[in-house]
Amino acid sequence: MSELIKLKNIIKRFYIDTPNELEILHGIDLTVNYGEFVAIVGESGSGKSTLMNIIGLLDHPTEGEYYLEGTDMSKAKDKELSRVRNKSIGFVFQTYNLIARTNAIKNVEMPMMYAGIDQRTRTERAAKLLDLVGMADRMRHTPDELSGGQKQRVAIARAMANNPAIILADEPTGALDSKTGRVIMDLFHQLHEEQGKTIILITHSQALAEETERIYTLSDGLIVGERRGTGVRAGSQLTDFGPVTPPAAPAEAPDMQTAPALPASDALAADPAPQAKTYSDMLDLVIEMQEEEEESN
Ligand SMILES: Nc1ncnc2c1ncn2[C@@H]1O[C@H](COP(=O)(O)OP(=O)(O)OP(=O)(O)O)[C@@H](O)[C@H]1O
Ligand SMILES: [Mg+2]
Repeated sequence: MSELIKLKNIIKRFYIDTPNELEILHGIDLTVNYGEFVAIVGESGSGKSTLMNIIGLLDHPTEGEYYLEGTDMSKAKDKELSRVRNKSIGFVFQTYNLIARTNAIKNVEMPMMYAGIDQRTRTERAAKLLDLVGMADRMRHTPDELSGGQKQRVAIARAMANNPAIILADEPTGALDSKTGRVIMDLFHQLHEEQGKTIILITHSQALAEETERIYTLSDGLIVGERRGTGVRAGSQLTDFGPVTPPAAPAEAPDMQTAPALPASDALAADPAPQAKTYSDMLDLVIEMQEEEEESN
């Protein structure tokens, strides 16, 4: 199998050259192959999110090499990082990170807007993606009108917007009850099995990690274990992955293959997107672009 992601001796320090210098990742070696579903588990504070920020090109490693599709990203400039991130990586966070003042369909359109895809294509594709995650009847609702599970389904549709090769999910079921978490996990399995997405799942839940193909265990900034998952899927009655809140309706699973194709990557290469360093920077920029577009309409 060929390597999509390869980290070699990644070190991350904060407050460099100050008396408070802190080394959080002490030399991480990690490989993820094309089409794999991998879990990263570890205690709170072990460095999972720090590692995810590096894999997601949201933060630079202090030392080490990071090859994404064979290209050393540790040497890439910020503008190149934003471009690759928006094209190749979809993010799902524990707290959804949806834009509060705009509806589900606009939220899903955002990464496409940032990639410079025309309004018609992106609205059509966003609608198909929301249908895929079982949210066709809630497209015009704003996040505050949606349950946690519904918000996470919108966030997954948004992560799929630019048809990325990789989905990075940091505790995506952490704020959900077990039944809703089950719906979200099933969506990840669907994206993995039917569309060959490479998925990296960060989770506290051993039961959920077992559902993946490979499990990396992180402890105090070091990978201390790597093994295959058992493949056993946690039942919906499992209660070990989140506080109990009222469950959302289960997702139907329409066929994603019917979503309109994105323009060829040449179109994306034109890259009209301004530079963004972090995910929220990117969202802020997209809101500005959206407001400009609305004004000019
Ligand atoms: N920007 C930062 N500056 C300084 N220290 C940081 C920064 N980001 C993270 N840390 C520290 O790095 C350590 C690892 O944090 P990280 O968020 O990666 O843990 P985690 O494994 O994701 O934990 P959790 O399961 O609670 O989300 C923590 O001690 C944290 O305080
Ligand atoms: Mg974390």
